[in-house]
Amino acid sequence: MITDQFGRPLRDLRISVTDRCNLRCTYCMPAEVFGPDYAFLPQSELLSFEEIERVSRVMVGLGVQKLRLTGGEPLLRRELPMLVAQLARIEGVQDLAMTTNGLLLPRFAAELKAAGLQRVTVSLDALDAETFGQMNGLGVSPEKVLAGIDAALSAGLGVKLNTVVKRGANDAGLAEFWRELRGKATVRFIEFMDVGNHNGWDLGHVLPSAEVLERLAGEDLTFTPLPPRHPGEVASRFASQDGYEVGLISSVTAPFCGDCSRLRLSATGSLYTCLFAGEGYDLKTPLRAGENDAQLHDRVAGLWRARRDRYSEERGEQTAGRPRIEMSFIGG
Ligand code: GTP
Ligand code: 5AD
Ligand code: SF4
Ligand code: SF4
Repeated sequence: MITDQFGRPLRDLRISVTDRCNLRCTYCMPAEVFGPDYAFLPQSELLSFEEIERVSRVMVGLGVQKLRLTGGEPLLRRELPMLVAQLARIEGVQDLAMTTNGLLLPRFAAELKAAGLQRVTVSLDALDAETFGQMNGLGVSPEKVLAGIDAALSAGLGVKLNTVVKRGANDAGLAEFWRELRGKATVRFIEFMDVGNHNGWDLGHVLPSAEVLERLAGEDLTFTPLPPRHPGEVASRFASQDGYEVGLISSVTAPFCGDCSRLRLSATGSLYTCLFAGEGYDLKTPLRAGENDAQLHDRVAGLWRARRDRYSEERGEQTAGRPRIEMSFIGG
């Protein structure tokens, strides 16, 4: 097992397969910036499925147990179920998941399950059509995402929901949202984060998770904390006395860098040791230059051993001017 400068092991690889998306969430890919003229990555710059599989195998050799496919929207990458099948065959992978906006799940859920995907995390910010339409930037209705969630459930995939909470945008309906969906899947509320360079983040838009929990509780419910399912879990879990679960992802008010075991691979083959990293480590060049697995292994081990990232714990004046990668490029 390798560990970084703070003793954190490498356990979790998040693989972005495309920077494109069929939504324009205001907090991630605002339509004014990601418009019709936006230059997305050309196909030739993307890692092939064979290259992704090879990098993943090397990572599993370094201790990675969990693989998560992200985007942009990962289901926009052609033939994605084929990649899932390739990754599912890697010995040592204990958890194979995908983060998606759900719109294409009615088409792909059964195929993904058959290929070996275990679970999906679907992003949905509101059930009110007006609110969701505004947050996704394109007026897409929540029914489209609900159809994706149902398709995933019917296919036998595990399902969690991610809901970004933005004060003034969707915070009014949180309790109703949770009560409506908690019987279908675990809902996780995420504090609006200062990722990327374009989402106009300020602290005033963050509703602290503690307040989210108060709003869910209302007059009649109490919550008790649940233990983490595994070390380094990003969500703090709570159970209501009537038996439902909620997750709170509190990167702003309660950072979880202390046991962060995540490494991110961009669609272009660069490694990022933090969601807020300014620069990646180019693995594609040595990969395409023909380095063998042992050489790639040594590169990643060296990168991880030197890692000192703890952005969310340092957030403040000294981090304000730093350049950051886009969330849509690195996949959350
Ligand atoms: P589970 O394995 O089901 O617990 O999911 P996960 O938390 O690995 O994946 P998911 O993509 O659902 O993560 C939820 C969200 O938490 C992400 O989309 C990000 O918004 C946020 N998040 C995940 N990892 C990190 C991280 O390392 N740092 C910060 N600051 N936020 C993160
Ligand atoms: N703050 C918090 N969460 C975000 N996501 C995207 N941008 C942000 C942000 N600025 C979430 C998405 C999705 C996951 C990949 O990251 O809603 O669930
Ligand atoms: Fe697309 Fe997800 Fe970003 Fe929304 S949050 S624009 S669905 S990548
Ligand atoms: Fe990990 Fe960076 Fe997120 Fe901290 S801010 S939890 S180090 S990815």
